[in-house]
Amino acid sequence: EKLQGLRNKIVTDGTFPDFPKPGILFRDVFAITRDPESHRTLNEIFDYYSKKAIERGIQAVVAIDARGFLFGPVLALKIGVPFVPVRKRGKLPGNVRSVAYSLEYGEAVMEIQEGSIQQGFKVLVVDDLLATGGSLRAACELITKSGGVVHECLVVLELLDLKGRNLISAPVTSLLQF
Ligand code: PRP
Ligand code: ADE
Repeated sequence: EKLQGLRNKIVTDGTFPDFPKPGILFRDVFAITRDPESHRTLNEIFDYYSKKAIERGIQAVVAIDARGFLFGPVLALKIGVPFVPVRKRGKLPGNVRSVAYSLEYGEAVMEIQEGSIQQGFKVLVVDDLLATGGSLRAACELITKSGGVVHECLVVLELLDLKGRNLISAPVTSLLQF
């Protein structure tokens, strides 16, 4: 019931045809955060997810620049583990590891700071939305190359037609499907 309410919010207030390019149906997760009741509901779902993540032994949370940062730090605080960012090129100081990737409406380069993941740590990877899976796969690759273990991924929205989860070897949980 709670999930259905959040999904309705995206349908009514967060669906934009032809953005940012013709042919893309944009699903705007800010439709949830703009509405305090929906935002609180999502937070309750994160409470539940975090308790289970603690039981599964998650040791770090990584989220993807920029919309992933709405949720990754919240989950890291609830779980009680480090939050580590993966960012678009040129945003992170110090030595970084990079990977090029493509997403539903473009191409980019993603980076992680060297030494930001402890060796062998079990990582939860968080983003707002899974489309083609290019972004999530790139983040997973950076974590693995850094010596972390991608234990699971969590996205708020999943665009099923694009079959992005097929690119990801770890289990992916999505809260709302379109
Ligand atoms: C969006 C979204 C995901 C990604 C999903 O990010 O937040 O990270 O696209 O697409 P994919 O599954 O096809 O890779 P975007 O790069 O638009 O950046 P933003 O979060 O900075 O808006
Ligand atoms: N990122 C990639 N595809 C997207 C879409 N259709 N809506 C919102 N964010 C996206």
